[in-house]
Amino acid sequence: MSDHVSYLEAKRPLDDRSLDRDVLSAFVDALPASPTVLEAGCGTATMPERLFEWGLLDAGTWVAVDSHAAAVTAGRDRLAGRPDATRNGDTVSLGDLTVEFVVADVFEHIGGSRRRFDAVVGNAFFDIVDIERALSTFRPCTDLVYAPITYNGETTVAPPMEPDEQVFARYEEHMRSYRPGHPEAARRLRAALAEPLADAASPWRIEPPYTAAERTVLRHLIETIRTAVGETGLDADAWARQRRAQVADGRLRYEAANRDVLGRI
Ligand SMILES: C[S@@+](CC[C@H](N)C(=O)[O-])C[C@H]1O[C@@H](n2cnc3c(N)ncnc32)[C@H](O)[C@@H]1O
Repeated sequence: MSDHVSYLEAKRPLDDRSLDRDVLSAFVDALPASPTVLEAGCGTATMPERLFEWGLLDAGTWVAVDSHAAAVTAGRDRLAGRPDATRNGDTVSLGDLTVEFVVADVFEHIGGSRRRFDAVVGNAFFDIVDIERALSTFRPCTDLVYAPITYNGETTVAPPMEPDEQVFARYEEHMRSYRPGHPEAARRLRAALAEPLADAASPWRIEPPYTAAERTVLRHLIETIRTAVGETGLDADAWARQRRAQVADGRLRYEAANRDVLGRI
């Protein structure tokens, strides 16, 4: 299993408990009975399975698109392995809910399509892409966007360490200047919507004692920060080593400010 796939599978329970249920209900209420939904950056397709398991979506078509082939394959195989699933090529059905798996850059895939969707969903997606580009690509095919777990500007790690301020300043700089995303993505997404419908905090909080999955998430996040900060020219290896040791000792506390955003585009 690739690191990306292990990380996505490990963060699933964290997303489960972090998602704001009122925004999720507002999203589900805005859908017709058997909707066609596009999921941008679906990763391992935890979202359609979650909605199915939580009794929130039992019919329709969920088009799950991600450019990371291993994630799409892992998601398809996990869903197909369920005793209640039926597989047909790259499509897996859970009852009357059909999930279509697509490996593609979602902007290229949708930009060239005339397909209409009742909504576009992007979980932990709108903070790593250019929001204007995303909205202008999705606007011709849908008018509803649900963007849960969208990063909103702050990571806090305890116990505090002297290089934290510099490390996190560079981490934000990396999001802002080295990638298409933005550290204040949730606020910017809300501001770009034609009609915001719901918006609430969905922070990720990890505290000791950790589950095995939480350890995987923490190690992945530390490595993500170390690599990003390194790309800006600051060596964060020593910082990351100490943070990893704190994870091993069960001393690190982590919180990321995310928001769940729902609106008309
Ligand atoms: C942080 S992960 C979130 C995955 C999944 N939504 C989840 O929450 O488990 C972001 C995902 O977006 C995908 N991604 C980023 N840009 C993309 C693009 N332009 N087209 C398709 N997928 C993209 C990445 O490959 C990655 O799997």
